[in-house]
Order: sequence, then structure tokens, then C-alpha cells
Amino acid sequence: MARNQFASKFGTMAAIAGSAVGLGNIWRFPYVAGNNGGAAFLIIYTVICLLISVPVMLSEFVIGRKGQSNTYRSFIKANGKKAWGIIGGVEIYAGLAILAFYCVVAGWSLEYIFAAVTGEFASIGGGDAAELINARIAAMGQRFDIFVGQGGAHILSIPRPVVWTIIFLGLNCVVLAFGVSKGIERCSKFMIPALFLILLILAIMSVRLDGFSEGAAFLLKPNWDAVTGQTIIFALGQSFFSLSLGMGAMTTYGSYIQKDQSLVGVAFIVVLATILMAILAGLAIFPATFTFGVEVTSGPGLVFKTLPALFASLPGGPWVGVVVSSLFFILLFFAAVTSSFSLLEAGTAYVTEEWTFGGRKQLSRPMALTILFVLVGALAVLCAFSQMEGTSLVIMGDSLFDFIDKLTSNIILPIGGIAACILVGWRMEDKIVFNELTSEGQFNGAIVRFFMFLAKWVCPIVIFYMFIKGLI
Ligand code: TRP
Repeated sequence: MARNQFASKFGTMAAIAGSAVGLGNIWRFPYVAGNNGGAAFLIIYTVICLLISVPVMLSEFVIGRKGQSNTYRSFIKANGKKAWGIIGGVEIYAGLAILAFYCVVAGWSLEYIFAAVTGEFASIGGGDAAELINARIAAMGQRFDIFVGQGGAHILSIPRPVVWTIIFLGLNCVVLAFGVSKGIERCSKFMIPALFLILLILAIMSVRLDGFSEGAAFLLKPNWDAVTGQTIIFALGQSFFSLSLGMGAMTTYGSYIQKDQSLVGVAFIVVLATILMAILAGLAIFPATFTFGVEVTSGPGLVFKTLPALFASLPGGPWVGVVVSSLFFILLFFAAVTSSFSLLEAGTAYVTEEWTFGGRKQLSRPMALTILFVLVGALAVLCAFSQMEGTSLVIMGDSLFDFIDKLTSNIILPIGGIAACILVGWRMEDKIVFNELTSEGQFNGAIVRFFMFLAKWVCPIVIFYMFIKGLI
């Protein structure tokens, strides 16, 4: 049977950009950028993306496209040693663990889409006095806490976050069952442009707010004094997570890229699109926070507590809050779902190609997805429960949810990145890598040589150094 492939060049880019643009871009990047020097951070971040992350991404693409297989098998094929398959395998399982907590958060976005559409965040307007805003934020905070289970409100009923988590994972499985081009690519092709459009609308709507120039300045004014050694570590970690590196996602997607598409071109466009969307997200969020003078935060607190309160306070009539909040949570859902596709696909490719039952028979995609639905679903439900009051799902002082986040982001991502660079830089033949990256001489060789040099000498050392620094 012919192996899966992306069908069009645009679809390839949409799927890969979809994997990259996710929750990380929307709720973390703007905050980190604002607090670490604004434009100064953007410049450092862009340089790190181009010099460190792009070579890693290219290495993962090469391993996948050359191997024409899942991450585990492609790692083995890249250098003929079975032991390397273990790293590939760990990446896949780590990706599935990320998927589990990702489903929980994405499930929250589904809850909030419904709340937004039904008018829960309609602008009440009339008062942007500080106490009023703070009271609304407190109310939204309480709403969120009760919803995720900190209020002890639904001990006996089935908690809604669990239901949403399962619905979200089920949706992923259905899309992926249609296949790589008919499922993932087709959805990404409309969701990514839609996501961009929504960001643009929200950013433009922000322009008329009083706090626009202050909010834009927070994100875009260079402040080199705020840049420290820590900033660079943040930037590298953020760029790895954001570009979906080190988890088998890009290796798997790489194996679906057509042979005559420029890998360097894909990597560049995806990096630029990801940065652009993150900046737009900042422009959509910060003007509102500055208009109402509330403290800028990140993560679930920003997205599910502060922002709904601000939406409910926007000037211009009740519908403004409904429209803005609905658009925002749909945006969050699109960002999350296109990212989760890549995590689930790394596992799906692995299960269909490696797990055999009854001799040599390969599993079909629907079969593999059913198995993954049960396994990932179980972990995801545990993650959702680990957020609830009185939970005993605590590992080393963190909830299961936070534990998975920290373990994967701080340890497995960098190791996966280094492994890809070592494989491509040191274990595969230079000529093979060069041919793969230039599509047999079709594309510029000089730039490819430069990236091969970076992948061989610079990336492993820099990533290792940051990894150790980040641990201590
Ligand atoms: N890039 C996504 C985000 O920014 C998350 C993500 C998707 C991811 N696939 C990944 C992170 C693979 C690490 C590895 O939210």
C-alpha cells in the first residue's frame, strides 16, 4: 500500500504551521515577549528560531522524509542502529502524554466557545472603573475554578471538563481516521487561514481601545535592559515547544512532505508564520489589558479568567463582548486542534506501522486510532481529574498535569532535538542529507550547507548547554 502523503504544497505548510501555532503561541509567547524586552525579545527569538530551531526542524524533516516511516523506524533507518529507535519511541510516547494534557485545555476552550456564543461574556459595558473590572475578573476566576473542579461543585456528577476532554480527543481521532491528506491537511487548509483572519480581526478591533498604544508598546518597544541570560533560555524553550520539535511530530510530518518540496522553504515559512501569529495574538490581547489597567499574566489564568472579564467590559454595546469572545475561543480551539493533530499523528503512524497482530498484519488507521483513543483518553481523564480539589494525582509535588508539562518540555524536548541533530550531522552520510535538503539539487545548496554546519556543530552544543542550565 502506498504511504500517506500531503497532497499540496499549501496544505503541507498549513498542516505544519498548524502544528506549530498552538496554545503556546497564544497564551505564553506574548507574555514572555512583553516581560523580556518586547522588540528586543522578538529579535533574539527570531535569531534563535533561525539559527537553532530551523536546523533542528530540518534535521527532523530529513530523518522522516528519508526514512519514509514513523519516528521510531526512521530513527533506526537513519543510522542502522536499533538503540536509536528507543529515542524515537520515547518521543512518540512523550508526544502522546503532551496530547493528554493538551486535550484537557482544548476541552476548556470548547466549554468557553459555548459560554461565549450563548452570551455569557456579552459586554455589560457602562463601567470600566477599576473595582468593577476587578469584580468581574474575580467572578470569572470563580467560574473557571468551579468549572475545572476547584470549587467542589460537581463531586457527584460527571465533571464537564472530563466530558469536553473526551469530545476533543474523539474529534481528533475522527479527523485522523480520514487520513493524512483527507483529514489533517484538509482541516488545516481552512483552519489556519481562518485562524489568521480571526487574529487579524481581533487585533484590528483592539486599535480603537484606549490602551492600544500602551499595549502595542509593551510588546513592540525594544527594552534591552530586560534581556538577561534567562531570556535566552526562555526563548529557546519557547521556540522548541512552539515549533513542535523534539516529539516526533515534525519527523512524522516530514515523512509526508512530497519529494520535490523545499524543506528549507517549508521551515522558513512556518517559522515566520508562527512568529507573526504570536505577535498578532499579543496585539489582540494586550490593548485590552492596558485599557482596563489589569495586570498582564499568561496561561489559563489569562485566557480563561482575565480575558472573559475584559470582553464583558468592552465598549460598544453587548454584542461586542459576544462577538469578540466567540471569535477568541474559536481561535483558541483552531490553534489547539491543529497542534493536537500532529501529536496524535506521530502515535498513529507508529501504531499502524509497528504494531502487528496475528503475524504480519498491519493495523488500519481506524483501529490504531481506537486504541490510541482509549490509552490517551485514560491519561487525559486523569489529567483533568488532577486539576480538581482534593486530587491525589500528584507526582513530586506537581499535579499530574503540570508534571507531564515539565517533564516533556524541560527534558524530552531538548534531548529529542539534540538526537535529531546528531543523527543528521554525525550518523547520516553528508551526501544523503544534502540531496534530501536540496531535493536532489533542485534547491540552493549554499544555504543547505550552512544549515548542515549549524546542525552538526552549533545546535547540539547550544541545546545541551541550555538544557543543563535550565535544569540547575
Ligand atoms: N506547538 C504547539 C504549541 O505551541 C504544541 C505542540 C504541538 C507541540 N505538537 C508538538 C509541542 C510537538 C512539542 C512537540 O502549542
